[in-house]
Amino acid sequence: MAHYLGIDIGTSGTKTLLIDETGHVVAEANAEYPMEQPKPGWTQQDPEHWWAATKKTVKAMMKKSGVDKADVKAIGLSGQMHGSVFLDRDDNVIRPALLWNDQRTADQCDQITSAAGSREKLIGMVANPALTGFQAPKVLWLRDNEKRNFDKLAKVLLPKDDIRRRLTGDYVTEVSDASGTLFLDVKKRDWSKELLGKLDLSTDLLPRVVESEDVTGTLTKEAAKVLGLTTQCKVVGGAGDCAAGAIGNGIVKSGLLSTSIGTSGVMFVHSDEPNVDASGRLHTFCHAVRGKWHMMGVNLTSGGSLQWWVDQVVQGLAGVPAAKRFEAATAEAEKAIAGSGGMLFLPYLNGERTPHADPNARGAFVGMNLTHDRAAMTRAVMEGITFALRDSLEIIESLGVPVRQIRASGGGSKNVFWRQMQADVFGKKITTLKVEQGPAFGVALLAAVGDGAYKHIAQACQATIEVAAETKADRSAKLTYNKLFPVYRSLYGSLKDDMHQLAELQSTN
Ligand code: XUL
Repeated sequence: MAHYLGIDIGTSGTKTLLIDETGHVVAEANAEYPMEQPKPGWTQQDPEHWWAATKKTVKAMMKKSGVDKADVKAIGLSGQMHGSVFLDRDDNVIRPALLWNDQRTADQCDQITSAAGSREKLIGMVANPALTGFQAPKVLWLRDNEKRNFDKLAKVLLPKDDIRRRLTGDYVTEVSDASGTLFLDVKKRDWSKELLGKLDLSTDLLPRVVESEDVTGTLTKEAAKVLGLTTQCKVVGGAGDCAAGAIGNGIVKSGLLSTSIGTSGVMFVHSDEPNVDASGRLHTFCHAVRGKWHMMGVNLTSGGSLQWWVDQVVQGLAGVPAAKRFEAATAEAEKAIAGSGGMLFLPYLNGERTPHADPNARGAFVGMNLTHDRAAMTRAVMEGITFALRDSLEIIESLGVPVRQIRASGGGSKNVFWRQMQADVFGKKITTLKVEQGPAFGVALLAAVGDGAYKHIAQACQATIEVAAETKADRSAKLTYNKLFPVYRSLYGSLKDDMHQLAELQSTN
């Protein structure tokens, strides 16, 4: 039977999985790697770690599965979006890649906006404003700050597309991930020569762009040998991890929206048309569904805030081994009351993207009193993360984008308490899938489509994805959250100047 492989190059690790042509997961493997933070707000990673993790996980997974290598017909690639792999003309990586949550490029974002003429004109060209995490300002940062490196620059690739280069020898990206560079004319699904011209950058720096299910090449002899696969194995475009995760959740038609809580938090809605948020709070990107788009809101430190809280603060949870702390902390939080007794947490630990687009926003607990304990504080962290997602949901609805079903995924769906909290905070039903697999599964499905096992991705999703359960909002918790949300919303405006002063002090520490 034909099999398809999905590889997701995440921020904390790589996940690889193998499905058969019915969508059944046959085997999977994970490998972790570190992220460098040389200064507050700077994040980078060595692309060699991604390649090492790809080789390790593919080999481990093939061994576990016992599947004949000739049956692995195609690979789909997914990965953390927006990152910049800088290559010289001999394909050497010039410096560590800047990541999606890196905040060093505020000046370059201003430069891009003024080169475009105004924020509105920029949004007119590429459907989005300049945001620090995106790839275009990273290229200008290299030009402004590391001139010698910039002079060597021959190509800039997104993380998963650097893996493709090592697999097939080709420089190719696909529309969903390319949308997050800020170089793409999202409506036309091709590079914006207009913006590149205004930035004095050549299109030669960028790879070719295809649709997500298109076959971009086959494995080179060398790659087939190291991975234990064949040179007939195809590689399809794949998708950025948000679109790939959405495909894995079946978000492939109008009315469907997904929430995903990982390190970042993502509210993702399918759109048949390229709807653009004129004020640039939401991203408008190409979907990994041919000829379709999506809108999304992204919170930079979502599950990342809870991880921070558990690792850096709640470490002392008496007698609990490190691997169980997360579970223990959320179970303890369940004992606190909805609304955490009137205490709020702002999850802006590394700046925020949606809706504030502010690299200098900072986190805060507000409203603490003597009755608050560790359980209430953990609950407030989880509620703050969920309020941040509601911020995106409200913008999506205010733009008239239809939302008929919300599917939860990631940490916020596996944890039953958090799933209920989402239903209560959004005041809507939350749907979960029978088996939730995430981005690697989504791109394995794209590989199956590229190989001809399905006519299109909607058909592949229909054949393989099953809805399992619905969680309804609790009336009383919903009322509490409806009272608290406006306060949560106004806190950023009240604290913004103070946050900026503190961010400034932190940068000089
Ligand atoms: C999306 C984004 C993050 C990364 C995380 O715009 O920046 O979700 O893709 O992997």
